[in-house]
Amino acid sequence: MENPNHKHLLLLTSLLLISHSDLILTHTQLLPIVRCSGHGADRDVYIVHVKHPNTTHLLAAADRETYYKTFLPPTAAAGGEQRLMYSYTHAISGFAARLSEAEVEAMASREGFVRAHRDKQYQLHTTHSPGFLDLQPDHCFWKESNFGAGVIIGVLDTGVTPFHPSFSDAGMALPPSKWKGACDFDTRFCNNKLIGARGFSRGCRDAPLDLDGHGTHTASTAAGGFVNGASVLGQAKGSAAGLAPRAQLAVYKVCDKACFGSDVLAGIDQAIADGVDVLSISFGARSAPFYDDAVAIGTMAAAAWGIFVSTSAGNEGPREGSVENDAPWVLTVGASTIDRTVRSTVKLGNGQQIYGESAYQPGNFPATQLPIAYPGARGISRAKTCSDGSLDGVNVRGKIVLCETGGANTSVEKGAIVRRAGGVGMIVMNGPTEMYTPEARAHVLPAAHVSYADAVKLKAYMKMAPTPTAAISFAGTLYGTPQAAPAVAAFSGRGPSAANNGVLKPDIIGPGVNIVAAWPKSVGASSNPTNDESIATFNMISGTSPAAAHLAGIAALLKASHPDWSPAAIKSAMMTSADTLDRSGNLISDEGLQPAQYLATGAGHVNPTKADDPGLVYDLWFSDYIAYLCGLGYTDRQVTSIARTGVECASVAAIAAEELNYPTIVVAIGANAQKTVTRTVRNVGEPGEAYAAAVDAPEGVAVSVFPDRLEFSGANETAVFDVYFTTGDDVEGRTGAVAEGQLRWVSNKHTVRSSISITFI
Ligand SMILES: *[C@@H]1O[C@H](CO)[C@@H](O)[C@H](O)[C@H]1NC(C)=O
Ligand SMILES: *[C@@H]1O[C@H](CO)[C@@H](O)[C@H](O)[C@H]1NC(C)=O
Ligand SMILES: *[C@@H]1O[C@H](CO)[C@@H](O)[C@H](O)[C@H]1NC(C)=O
Repeated sequence: MENPNHKHLLLLTSLLLISHSDLILTHTQLLPIVRCSGHGADRDVYIVHVKHPNTTHLLAAADRETYYKTFLPPTAAAGGEQRLMYSYTHAISGFAARLSEAEVEAMASREGFVRAHRDKQYQLHTTHSPGFLDLQPDHCFWKESNFGAGVIIGVLDTGVTPFHPSFSDAGMALPPSKWKGACDFDTRFCNNKLIGARGFSRGCRDAPLDLDGHGTHTASTAAGGFVNGASVLGQAKGSAAGLAPRAQLAVYKVCDKACFGSDVLAGIDQAIADGVDVLSISFGARSAPFYDDAVAIGTMAAAAWGIFVSTSAGNEGPREGSVENDAPWVLTVGASTIDRTVRSTVKLGNGQQIYGESAYQPGNFPATQLPIAYPGARGISRAKTCSDGSLDGVNVRGKIVLCETGGANTSVEKGAIVRRAGGVGMIVMNGPTEMYTPEARAHVLPAAHVSYADAVKLKAYMKMAPTPTAAISFAGTLYGTPQAAPAVAAFSGRGPSAANNGVLKPDIIGPGVNIVAAWPKSVGASSNPTNDESIATFNMISGTSPAAAHLAGIAALLKASHPDWSPAAIKSAMMTSADTLDRSGNLISDEGLQPAQYLATGAGHVNPTKADDPGLVYDLWFSDYIAYLCGLGYTDRQVTSIARTGVECASVAAIAAEELNYPTIVVAIGANAQKTVTRTVRNVGEPGEAYAAAVDAPEGVAVSVFPDRLEFSGANETAVFDVYFTTGDDVEGRTGAVAEGQLRWVSNKHTVRSSISITFI
């Protein structure tokens, strides 16, 4: 007999589910979504590449699935779940399935099998910017590119907060006719701004709602519309807008707290099918060979389909070799500071003043001297970082508490821990790796985040003073602050790229510190996610995540103004026109206020206006990447799995990585040696333009360019040149050292600049 309460129960369950997950979604207009039952053991998921059947383009999705299933054991997986999780069409030739290692081994002898690799996890890259990039509503380039109108940006992330005013479609045109995507929200939530929203989770459809904030922040950074009066707790007030405020957004939820490669491939597969122009990816994993990296594999397909891919360089800097997302077909974006600080001032009992930052600036906090507590004074590392549980037994009641960065909790969580323990204020102290990169976070109590140099001063004062005290006061948002900007953020991922030594990574830097963008729930001291009705919230976060989203937005502007440019041409335009000097005219500095290496900045800091008119571009096509992959020494099966089509490297003219026609140059060279790299440029400037080569040679290396003059009689003409590197015996003792220089092609209208990074071997 049917249970009459069955429907009712289901409804209640779904309501409970929704209120459970912290949503501000008071009305639950989500479409019914098929949810997976058990998720099974994730370590037993494999991504399997199989030969592209020569008739695939004629096969319907169902036929492809049938073909893929022929590779699978006929039984259910160990946990009783379905074997097949995803049947891919565009991102790879293959599928994701639940398999044991033995089952994969058995499959390997099957005709048509190429290779398989275990699914793995990727981490999200988060720990007034259009104005800083010199884009104002009446600015020529913003206007000329019509704010990105007609371009679709796909954002692979944690989903989106659909009803946020940043995603209102006031003034937006209908999606372009090539758009084939869908929206898994109620149609009232998708509109002419948010034109698509899909979710993929462990082989199932998932509601694309953002329960984290990361995806809402990156989507609105790339393409949020204009929202007047945006601010974070009253700070950094202004009109908020993404970089391409008229571009359309398609959101692919492929991450919760982390992202699985198989879900990412499903998102990319869908984005290609839907017709996006640009992809924004703000998560990653430690550099691995490209054939074992689902993001590298999927983005190769996207690039081959003409989609520009912007990715984050990772937040594991300043460690050498920490750069992630380092394939040459994506733009790898590092994070830099902007010229805005939200200042909170710490005045010590001895009169010394220290400047810190905090987005939470309460008006009613008295700037009176209060006792300071330093739970880490006794050297216990959990207490140093104010990690959860470490303040038990420490008397912090009524005090300002010193907490170091690091440990299990974010600085905002540390504030909550301090507050819970009875503390009234907090000073977050940078360590020797973060140096001068403080973050203005939306803290839950009066706080100041200070530099390492100031942390050293603070600790010295704690040691000397018999009863140390401090007062915190708030100075609000300051622009054009004396601190050099842009400067590379401490956490920004650094080269050299492990998988890809021979191509400079990261490619470029863009705003990634204290970036204000849309957020699903309120932040700060009074935040109470369960009863919050105000949806127009914004948050200030830092990471290479917002940096990659910025560059995705800029790519959309360039795509709108140059629809015929390839992804590599757009990338070249951004890189060869990037700034190498900061706003004070000094070389861009790093977190230690020293001139930053190219291994931190790549080509430099993005300059959108100059990127619109680069003069020349270094272009790249699918066949170039195949030649490059064969040159890395990958096997035919490995290259085939990335290429989606059978490749025999023996019949490919393989090239060394440094020979890839990249807009930057990396060369490894020993003493008394010679090396030549060849590049091809295409004229996208005026017909009749003539360029002369200007070289700043890296120390210890003689550099010459032939020919050293290039003349283009027509638009779109190409020219080939060689760059010769010669060393003497004076570099003998410099093995492992890096020297930097640059090549500039200079006409009377353009300067086309390439960073040159030499490693002595
Ligand atoms: C597909 O490949 C198989 C085996 O290589 C071959 O026998 C068959 O004729 C091919 N089909 C087409 C349509 O080319
Ligand atoms: C601190 O981090 C731990 C581990 O990630 C987490 O379980 C805990 O909830 C965090 N504490 C706060 C106050 O968020
Ligand atoms: C310029 O050259 C590129 C690459 O060869 C080509 O794809 C493009 O269509 C050309 N554009 C024009 C306007 O001829």
